[in-house]
Amino acid sequence: MSRGPVLVTGGAGYIGAILVRRLLNAGERVRVLDRMLHGAHGLAGLEAEERLEVRTVDLRDPRTHDEALEGCDTVVHLAAIVGDKACALDEEVAVQTNWTATVNLACRAAVLGVRRFVFASTCSVYGEGRNELLTESSPVRPLSLYAETRYHAERGILERARGASFEPVILRFGTVYGLSPRMRFDLVVNLLTLRAARDGEISIFGGSQWRPFVHVIDIARALECAMVEPPPLEGEPILNVGDNLENYQLRDLAEYYERAFPRVRVRHAPEASDPRTYRVSFDRIERLWGFRASRRVPDGIEEIAAALRAGSIPDPGHRRYVNA
Ligand SMILES: NC(=O)c1ccc[n+]([C@@H]2O[C@H](COP(=O)([O-])OP(=O)(O)OC[C@H]3O[C@@H](n4cnc5c(N)ncnc54)[C@H](O)[C@@H]3O)[C@@H](O)[C@H]2O)c1
Repeated sequence: MSRGPVLVTGGAGYIGAILVRRLLNAGERVRVLDRMLHGAHGLAGLEAEERLEVRTVDLRDPRTHDEALEGCDTVVHLAAIVGDKACALDEEVAVQTNWTATVNLACRAAVLGVRRFVFASTCSVYGEGRNELLTESSPVRPLSLYAETRYHAERGILERARGASFEPVILRFGTVYGLSPRMRFDLVVNLLTLRAARDGEISIFGGSQWRPFVHVIDIARALECAMVEPPPLEGEPILNVGDNLENYQLRDLAEYYERAFPRVRVRHAPEASDPRTYRVSFDRIERLWGFRASRRVPDGIEEIAAALRAGSIPDPGHRRYVNA
């Protein structure tokens, strides 16, 4: 357990909304710093939690950092402009948030004696199609501003943030899916589930692209490991987060939708406008922490389909469920 509150930046987001609840359930005190770009509904129902402190703050302002970090020895940094489309909306804000402010926050954290700084990066830094299984030491080829800013932030944290006891851990997530109180329907598995349920039809473009998928609860589990478990003894403290069984070519997903929605029409469109393809090895996180996925893609499809059927996601087409 952390000595002070755990600082979770971006704690009102898709992943943060799950992580914050799990940390509170585990007895932690949690401080959320978030500019509430997509609203605060991810934290709805937690208003009475005495161990939760929520600050609506824009971390691009470096004057906010010292106060945010006060008394914390563990930081989980999730705040970001997330996704290629969202970053393209305002490139300057994306660079400031995802790169500059991230490195500044890590540098201040190191100076102020934070021990563990967990940074949420992405497997999309690997970028483009190659046939080999990508490991943490494979060369990166970021194909979008989003992936570039995440990669430069990784480098900045590892090269510039130094302190006597500072231990950064960089987690590169696969593409996340699953239910969250701050639901995102701009993520492949979630979006296809919504379309299958609502329209009775899904389109898979190209389909040969490889992508690793990981459930949002497993992401939260990996973040919890990263808060307390020993970082790698050799090499840089970078870990891919996912499971070797969960690398898919997008066309392989079709059968899961056909099983979950027997009447769905699946259109295979020939051209993919998205050149990203990467097949990722998750051996390192398994060797180090024994980490394996507790859920698989069909579980995510089922739970989202059930929530849509039950009407527990109000107005699922609303723009608050997409980042751009
Ligand atoms: N969801 C995925 O598939 C995925 C995959 C790989 C990596 N990640 C990484 O995980 C992290 C969280 O992703 P998510 O899916 O929860 O995203 P999200 O968009 O749901 O949440 C991001 C949160 O950050 C906050 N934020 C943005 N700019 C801020 C600023 N300047 N100051 C304070 N708060 C700010 C937003 O208000 C939002 O609540 C990100 O760092 C992202 O790069 C996500």
